[in-house]
Amino acid sequence: MLELTNSTCVSSQHGISQVTSNDNDNKADERRRREQMLEAFRSRFNTEPTVGARAPGRVDLMGSHTDYNEGFVLTLAINRDTWIMAAPRSDNAVNLASLNLDSACQFDVESFDAKIEGWGQYVQGVAAVLHAAGHPLIGFDGLVHGTVPIGSGLSSSASLEAAAATLFEQLGGFELGGLEKAKLCQQAENEWVGVNCGILDQYSSILGEAGEALILDCRSLTHQYATMPANLRPVICNTCAPRKLTGSEYGQRRTQCEQAASYFGEQDNSIKSLRDVSLDLFREHQTNLSDEVRKRAQFIIEENARVGQLAEALKSNDLPAIKELTAASFVGARDLFEISVPAMQQMFDTMISAPGCVGCRQAGAGFGGCMIALVATDHVTDFCESVTANYERESGLKPEVYPVQTAPSAGKLALD
Ligand code: GLA
Repeated sequence: MLELTNSTCVSSQHGISQVTSNDNDNKADERRRREQMLEAFRSRFNTEPTVGARAPGRVDLMGSHTDYNEGFVLTLAINRDTWIMAAPRSDNAVNLASLNLDSACQFDVESFDAKIEGWGQYVQGVAAVLHAAGHPLIGFDGLVHGTVPIGSGLSSSASLEAAAATLFEQLGGFELGGLEKAKLCQQAENEWVGVNCGILDQYSSILGEAGEALILDCRSLTHQYATMPANLRPVICNTCAPRKLTGSEYGQRRTQCEQAASYFGEQDNSIKSLRDVSLDLFREHQTNLSDEVRKRAQFIIEENARVGQLAEALKSNDLPAIKELTAASFVGARDLFEISVPAMQQMFDTMISAPGCVGCRQAGAGFGGCMIALVATDHVTDFCESVTANYERESGLKPEVYPVQTAPSAGKLALD
């Protein structure tokens, strides 16, 4: 989870790669983005990049904070991604620059005594875990550009980690299995960056698929496919509200869920996590839990059940059920899990009353950032215009509103 406490709407900096809804436009955007990155790379490093990697962000349609409770998440890899272009070096140095942030950093792939600050830490963390696992690492000059809004709930950090791991594989001539790679990237974030996230983001970026929504089982670490009705389009609505305290609040939520799981484990030792607790058992015992722990547990148990229910509703194109389930997820996130902020409420109210909106809710960890709507395909343009105008009027914040589509998992980036 990348955290920025200042503006979160930096994805469109430098005017590169506005992702559009039309396939031809997408191809033209990609070409332009590639050319601009190549040019920036040459002028910065005075050489040609020879290796490239890309990895998508993700959006969760249901299943907030269920991943570290060994539950389910309905997730999509999306066509907002991170690209890295690189030229190998003959020493152990990694020289990295970001086109989004106009900043650069350096580290060494053989010695991990000094942790660098900022966004480069995600790449260094991936290098550190790969090194510890015995993979051969090669230094490089690299340029990063992302279209995942930074620190806004669409997994900008996991997409950077996944792109970095994919780059190191190519440079070092080794290949990781998908799940192995996702776990290593999660480990980098947990141990190197120090964010105790679950597996959702890395799994989605590395094992997501174009044309597919995944029902991820965070216990077995496997997935099934969910049907996405052709008449609905996911639309991202970035509140652009500054996100604060995401890290500490996230850790607290996780601890409270663990406290609840441990209480239920004492009642029945087959219970290992909140995923194993039924709503009936929860109701029977809820008065024995502190108020906060009770609310957190109730949300997770209900949210986990909603994942399967939403998958069913999508399959049968049951629009009222989609609306009800996504609204219940938002209300639970606000009142029970308490990860909402006023800008999210304003965005929810704006989205739900916009043309074509079938359902909407939070995305990612909450506390601001992006939200997601499922919108009738023929109303996407009206929806985007309406949300943009009304949210800005209500909140005084300029949102970023755009449709997304599913995208292929992390892989090589073609350089020509
Ligand atoms: C962040 C974390 C994920 C997950 C979500 C909430 O994105 O990185 O592991 O917990 O929040 O569902």
